[in-house]
Amino acid sequence: MKREKSLLLIVFLFLLSLINQNAYSKEKEDLNFPKGFLWGTATSAYQVEGGIKNDWSKNGLDAGKAANHFEEFDNDFKIAKSLGNNAYRMSIEWARIEPEKDQWSQEGVDFYKKIFKSLKKHGLKPMVTIHHFTNPIWTEKFGGWENKEIIERFAKFTTFLAKTFGDDVDLWLTFNEPNVYALKSFATGDWPPFKKDRQITLYVMNNILKAHAEAYRILHEFDNTDADSDGIACEVGFAQHIAVLEPFWVLNPLDHLMTYFQNKVFNEAFWDACTTGKFDLFIPGLKSIDEPFNEKLKNSMDFVGFNYYTRWFIKANGDNVPNEKGELTDMKWEIYPTGLGKSIQLANNYAKKRNLPIYITEVGLSDPNDSKRGKYIVTHTKSMLDEIKKGSNVKGFMFWSLMDNFELADGYGPKFGLMTIDRKIKQSAYVYKEIAETNSIPEKLSEKYLK
Ligand code: BGC
Repeated sequence: MKREKSLLLIVFLFLLSLINQNAYSKEKEDLNFPKGFLWGTATSAYQVEGGIKNDWSKNGLDAGKAANHFEEFDNDFKIAKSLGNNAYRMSIEWARIEPEKDQWSQEGVDFYKKIFKSLKKHGLKPMVTIHHFTNPIWTEKFGGWENKEIIERFAKFTTFLAKTFGDDVDLWLTFNEPNVYALKSFATGDWPPFKKDRQITLYVMNNILKAHAEAYRILHEFDNTDADSDGIACEVGFAQHIAVLEPFWVLNPLDHLMTYFQNKVFNEAFWDACTTGKFDLFIPGLKSIDEPFNEKLKNSMDFVGFNYYTRWFIKANGDNVPNEKGELTDMKWEIYPTGLGKSIQLANNYAKKRNLPIYITEVGLSDPNDSKRGKYIVTHTKSMLDEIKKGSNVKGFMFWSLMDNFELADGYGPKFGLMTIDRKIKQSAYVYKEIAETNSIPEKLSEKYLK
């Protein structure tokens, strides 16, 4: 009896050690990011700098002083550095550099030269967007992105940037969210030039793709010339907006069909075209685009870049609605960390074809009292880490945004920043700092937000 008892005790202790071991290995889940990972924040010139005159300011959407980054940039970069960042995504305002057609502003050049010098001083690697929704006023004269003349104008602007800033920049994004820009400016009529014409939207998409292809080649052409003698090969891509789209009612085949189309047009058309060199979009009811094969467009991405914010449910009539049962932000965008993982999987379909890295160029939320942002940062970076572990080569993450700023047609209501416009650092900024600084999700954060 005594022997049986001690046997039982041994078995019991053995089982207990197994349970403990399990708990131990769970605790010890590797939450490190790959070496050399880029941690940054993202902004766009018009939304943060202030004092810009462009097609938005002219047409009732004047950002005014914005976040006055124009004067405060050096301190802003100091703060970003103190938050453990090693990268920074920004855009160059076309209207500052070429305020009038073919007139190149030395003042504009000097300003961005100062920006790059300051970024270097603070150890922040610049990732630079050439077009982030805004245009110089003079482009309106010929119809902006509706007219194919814009392709040549954009190519000239890019050539100027490549020659002037080649040594300062090695990571370029030709466009920010070409899909959103085409849609909001030409289909829904929310942004300048406030058009509501789906056919024009398609032409605009086509012009953007051609402009991207030109810019891609130009930036590479000037790499390793006297204009860019830093010996580092530049990487060029663009920031696609990925929205996770799902049918509203799973049992409705028409909801599925509409989701399929929206996925194709909104999420995948640009990546497809930049991979195959062919833009052939068919949308029922519209004159199709069937461009001939464009050699310059083929393989015109050195990385797959995208912005991710939320998920939408799609109805057969094309309407999109958020998940009412999910957690929503003040802008009624669902907080859906799994969606970042799903977006990485989609990006990886393109990345793995050509062995390309992936950059997450924006992720963020409006959260006026900063009560959700900390958890949001941890759950989203965890979702990204899970995909990295499964084999996606994600090389960087840019949080939108460094500071509250001009949220486009929504003005100053939404608050996306890690700090306020008065540069008051929010609590969530320190969560981001801990992740960036340790290049991992520290145990303390994982305990608090992931259990
Ligand atoms: C855009 C940003 C914008 C952010 C939040 C992104 O789609 O690139 O310019 O501020 O979303 O709406």
